[in-house]
Amino acid sequence: MSLVRIVGTLDPHVHLRGMEWAHKGDFDTETTAAVAGGYTAVLDMPNTPPSTTDGPGLERKLSELGGLARCDYGVWLGAHPSGVRPREELARLAPMVCGIKLYCGHTTGGLTIGASDMDRQVAAWPGPGVIAAHAEGDMVPRFLESLARHRKRGHLCHVDTARAVAEVAEHKRRGTQVTAGACPHHLVFTEGDLWGLGPRGVMKPPLGTSADRDALWAGIRDGAIDVVESDHAPHTWDEKLGSDTPFGVPGLETTIPVLFTAVREGRLTSERAVELVSVAPRRIFGLDPHPAETYTVVDTGASRVVGSGDLYTLCGWTPFSGMELWGVIRRVVIRGTVVFEDGEVLAPPGFGLNLYAKSV
Ligand code: DOR
Ligand code: ZN
Repeated sequence: MSLVRIVGTLDPHVHLRGMEWAHKGDFDTETTAAVAGGYTAVLDMPNTPPSTTDGPGLERKLSELGGLARCDYGVWLGAHPSGVRPREELARLAPMVCGIKLYCGHTTGGLTIGASDMDRQVAAWPGPGVIAAHAEGDMVPRFLESLARHRKRGHLCHVDTARAVAEVAEHKRRGTQVTAGACPHHLVFTEGDLWGLGPRGVMKPPLGTSADRDALWAGIRDGAIDVVESDHAPHTWDEKLGSDTPFGVPGLETTIPVLFTAVREGRLTSERAVELVSVAPRRIFGLDPHPAETYTVVDTGASRVVGSGDLYTLCGWTPFSGMELWGVIRRVVIRGTVVFEDGEVLAPPGFGLNLYAKSV
C-alpha cells in the first residue's frame, strides 16, 4: 500500500442537479458520489432550474442542499441572462456564494449572455468571490481583457484549447488576476475518441485535438492551469441517447484517480496532483484554512477498472468506463467524522455544511 493523505479536497465545478432536475441526480446522490470520489467539499453551479440567478433561486438551492448534502459545499450565483441585477441585490447575495458564473456561450441550462453583457457583469460584480466564465474561442480573450480592464479577479473554467492555455499564460504574465481550470475528460480524451465514446463524449466545451490535450498537460506542469475541476454534469442515459444529446458527463468519482494515473505514468508529480484538487482551489475560492480533521486517504498503489455499476452518481454511466485508473479512495474524513471507508458512504444526508454561511 502506498497511501497519500490530501487535506481539504475541493471540486470547485460541479452540477449536482436536484430541484427540477432531480431525475438526473440530486443533492443526496451527487454528494454521495463526491465523497466516494474523495472530495470533502464541492462548489455547485447555477444552471439547474430554477436557476441560481436571484434571491429566491439561491434560497431554494440552499434549503434543498442543507437537508441533503453529505459533504461540505458552496454555491455559485449565475449571471442573470436578462442583465445585471441591481447593485443592492448583488451586494446582499455576493457574501453568500463562492462567486458569480458567466455563461458566455451556449450550453445546458439556458443562461447564456452576450459579449457586451459579459463586460457589464464583470464590471458590476462586487466580490469578494471570483468571477468564473464558461468561454470558448473568441470569448476567452474577451473575458480576460474584461478582467484586466476592470481589475477584477476571475477564473476561466474548463480550458479546452492550446490557444486558450496560451492566452491565459500571457494574461498571467501581464498581471491579470486570473486562474484557470482543466477537466479530466479534456485531459484524457480527444475528438478522435468520439467514435468510441458516442454520447459519453458529448460535453461543452467539446473534446479537442491531441495538441490541445498536450497543451493542457503542459499548462498543468508550468502553472498556466491552476486546478483540475470535474465539471460533473450528470444526464440520464436515455437523455444522452436522445436525438438532442445534452452536453455533460459525470466526473466526481474519476477525477482524483485520473490524476494519480497520470502520476503513475510520470506525467505529473504527486505534490502537483494534491495542489490541483486541494491547495489551489481552496486558495482561489477563499476556503483556506480548511476545516480541521478534513482529509482524504488515497491508495496510489492500487487500481480499479471503472465500471458503470460501481458508481454512486444517479446517472449510472461514465466516459471512463472500462479504463484502469490508479488511486483508490480508502477513506474520507470531514470535520473529524469518517464519511467514507471501505467503499461505503457513511455520512447521512444533511451532514454537509455551507462553507460560505459564516459570512452571511
Ligand atoms: O458539458 C457541460 N455540461 N458543459 C456545461 O457548460 C454545462 C454542463 C451541464 O450543466 O450539463
Ligand atoms: Zn460546468
